[in-house]
Parts: sequence; structure tokens; C-alpha cells
Amino acid sequence: MEIRRQVLEYKVFASMDALEAGDAELLGRARAATADAYAPYSRFRVAACGRMENGEVLTGTNQENASFPAGICAERTLLSVASSLFPGMAMMTMAISYRNEEGSASTPVAPCGICRQSLKEFSERTGVPIRLVMGGTHGEVYLVESSDALLPLAFGPGDLH
Ligand code: THU
Repeated sequence: MEIRRQVLEYKVFASMDALEAGDAELLGRARAATADAYAPYSRFRVAACGRMENGEVLTGTNQENASFPAGICAERTLLSVASSLFPGMAMMTMAISYRNEEGSASTPVAPCGICRQSLKEFSERTGVPIRLVMGGTHGEVYLVESSDALLPLAFGPGDLH
């Protein structure tokens, strides 16, 4: 028997001001884009902005539905936008922000489990890990250098063969 260990390491910044300029700009855009979320049911508005390999910045927001399971998270909206507009192109960094009309938004939120699965396959397809920058309306910002770190022992395309 052996024990294998996968450790999640992430950087914590006191605020957006402590980020490098490109990351601060991307997170600022995500914060602003929360206004475009369609979240009448949860009142939890999420936006994700991705900087592509060619420098383009794309945005996705959560889009809910009266049939609740039909809703989609901001992160997967963004991945679909990216794959549709720039098929096969790597996403270098994704910034995720939110605002919570029912409560505080001072602590970063990380992608849900389904989005982690989608992030894994997106970065595997392009061969480039996605950096994740996460922050609410204010307060600490988290940075994960590779979204793969959020899904240890992951199931992936290779497991089907
Ligand atoms: N949501 C996201 O868009 N991204 C996340 O990382 C967490 C949750 C959305 C889904 C739903 O519309 C609302 O937030 C509340 O769960």
C-alpha cells in the first residue's frame, strides 16, 4: 500500500490592488459583468472573464431558468463562448466574480463541481492550464495557477478508452 497526495495550493491577495495589472483588469471586468447575469431566482450574480491566447477577453454570466436545472453557471457559459468563437484556442486566465443580493460578497467563490469538470476538459483539449483569479465585490482575491488543481483524481476523456 502507498499513500498518494494531491495538494491544492493557492495564492491569497489582500485585495484586487495587490494583483498584477493584467489580472486586476480581468477581475475588474468580471465584477462589472455581474450586471449582465440573469439570476432572478438565486439573486446570486456571477460573471467570468477569460483572456484568450490571442489577447481577446471574453465574458460569460450565469443564466438561470424557471426550470431550475436548465440554468447554467457563468464559467461554463464562458467556456462555450470561447469554444464557439475561437475553437481550440487556449484560455490563459479566467477571472470569476459575483455579487450576492441576499448577502455579502467579500469572500471569493470557486467554480462548482460541474464547472471544474468542464474546465478540466477545456484545458486538456487546448493543452494549456487555465489560471483562475477569484474575487467578490471587495476583499481577498484567490489565485490558482491551474484549474486542474481543483479537481484531483479527475475523470477525463482518457478514461473512456
Ligand atoms: N453559479 C455560477 O455561475 N458559478 C459558480 O461558480 C457557482 C454558482 C451560479 C449558478 C446559479 O445561477 C447561482 O450561481 C446560484 O447557485
